[in-house]
Amino acid sequence: MNAADTSSSPYVAVVTGASQGLGHALARALADRGWSLVLDARRGDRLAAATGGLPGGPHPAVAGDVADPAHRRELADVAAELGGARLLVNNASTLGASPLPPFADLDATTYLRLLEVNLVAPLALTAALLPQLRRHAGVVLNLSSDAAVEAYETWGGYGSAKAGLDHASRVLAAEEPRLRVYAVDPGEMRTQMHQDAFPGEDISDRPLPATVVPALLGLLDGGLPGGRYRVADLASVVAPVPA
Ligand SMILES: NC(=O)c1ccc[n+]([C@@H]2O[C@H](COP(=O)([O-])OP(=O)(O)OC[C@H]3O[C@@H](n4cnc5c(N)ncnc54)[C@H](OP(=O)(O)O)[C@@H]3O)[C@@H](O)[C@H]2O)c1
Repeated sequence: MNAADTSSSPYVAVVTGASQGLGHALARALADRGWSLVLDARRGDRLAAATGGLPGGPHPAVAGDVADPAHRRELADVAAELGGARLLVNNASTLGASPLPPFADLDATTYLRLLEVNLVAPLALTAALLPQLRRHAGVVLNLSSDAAVEAYETWGGYGSAKAGLDHASRVLAAEEPRLRVYAVDPGEMRTQMHQDAFPGEDISDRPLPATVVPALLGLLDGGLPGGRYRVADLASVVAPVPA
């Protein structure tokens, strides 16, 4: 899925959580490839500063919370104005609390917020964009985690939300056979979220999020069937088409 492949049909992607970390690294790579982007994060000043200089712009930076239905509607409306989304990257996510609490200490309000941001919002944003995605036989890329599969102590709230996202991705793929729906575990990355998960710990040995991007681009290019993938496995399976 390279915008350079076509001159007529618009290549529009909605990327949530695009102001930093993996969302920003992927947004940059997509912009390099000629995609038009609709970019989201809650803090508009940081989003504008991080994405204002991306190539091929201006790319609309729409500040808001993915858990807010009006914000999701706005993202869909802006994508429609650009010609309709062909790719949705559900990347924005929350840990809920730092340090991560065991289930015994996870209060219901925090847990509900985790489920709202990490599970309900990605599916609701997908639903809002479905008419556009269907028209382009598009792709939904949901960022998952190994915590969705492994039973790490204190990761139960976040991990169960991501496990729900994995399963919802599979159901969506069955319901929308013209789309490719992926749930991808990117592996550990040196980002703010990872630092918040391990407060006070030196995470300088974790790879930067940009190292994950080639595997994600390869997934978009390679036409692998929808499903759950780990970036650690993808690197040897998909070869990204050069920009
Ligand atoms: N880092 C890792 O080691 C790791 C491992 C496995 C999976 N993942 C997954 O990879 C994805 C990217 O993580 P990351 O480490 O790159 O995160 P990050 O650096 O913390 O960035 C998160 C981004 O999401 C935005 N965001 C957070 N909550 C939001 C909300 N409610 N509405 C809209 N935007 C919101 C943030 O901006 P604002 O704060 O301004 O909203 C920021 O742009 C996530 O889905 C995460 O679960 C990460």
